[in-house]
Amino acid sequence: MKMRVILSGLIGGLLLCGAVVANDYVTNGGLQSLRGSTELDSQQDAQQMKKVVEQAKPYENDYVFQPPLIPHQIRHYEVNLNANKCLSCHSWKNARDSGATKISVTHYEARDGEVLSDVSPRRYFCLQCHVPQNDAQPLIENQYQRVESLR
Ligand code: HEC
Ligand code: HEC
Repeated sequence: MKMRVILSGLIGGLLLCGAVVANDYVTNGGLQSLRGSTELDSQQDAQQMKKVVEQAKPYENDYVFQPPLIPHQIRHYEVNLNANKCLSCHSWKNARDSGATKISVTHYEARDGEVLSDVSPRRYFCLQCHVPQNDAQPLIENQYQRVESLR
């Protein structure tokens, strides 16, 4: 009985020591990940917001039927059940006055090809397909090239 108590005390002590020692050596082993080389047990500083590239002329497409990239800032542009800021410039009604490109006819087509009198629900949430660009470097090197016919 006595022996058992001593033994479990010993094991308990060892485990505790182990935990303390392990805690002192939490390390990412020098590996870099998307969170940089910040150690696992500390919080990485938030990165600076990247600047959206704004330009006067549209981006060139990389493949046929690509949703064109957005060449302007879209911060605070609401798109929800009650309002669609994008359409206040890009709808057929407002495009002439705003100088923005009209959304194309495809944006009025329902799934079965039926042409509606207003923007099709499946084209309502513009940012599903259209995105602005920022000055970030690609996370992973790649050799992507524009399709031959558009080069
Ligand atoms: C204040 C008016 C305005 C609003 C609001 C607006 N845009 Fe634009 N947008 C423009 C103008 C003007 C252009 C074309 C000139 C330019 O390149 O800036 C343009 C260009 C674009 C283009 C490029 C079109 C092409 O031919 O390549 C896309 C895509 C686009 N906008 C999407 C959006 C989306 C999505 C939203 C909502 C999140 C939005 N825009 C909100 C005015 C607006
Ligand atoms: C499901 C994807 C999708 C959604 C959602 C969508 N678009 Fe598009 N958009 C496209 C594609 C693909 C093209 C290019 C081919 C075409 O015109 O259909 C395009 C083209 C455009 C163009 C260029 C038209 C031209 O004649 O060059 C504008 C401007 C545009 N979209 C604005 C918008 C706005 C504003 C919204 C939201 C109301 C929106 N899009 C929602 C996919 C989408």
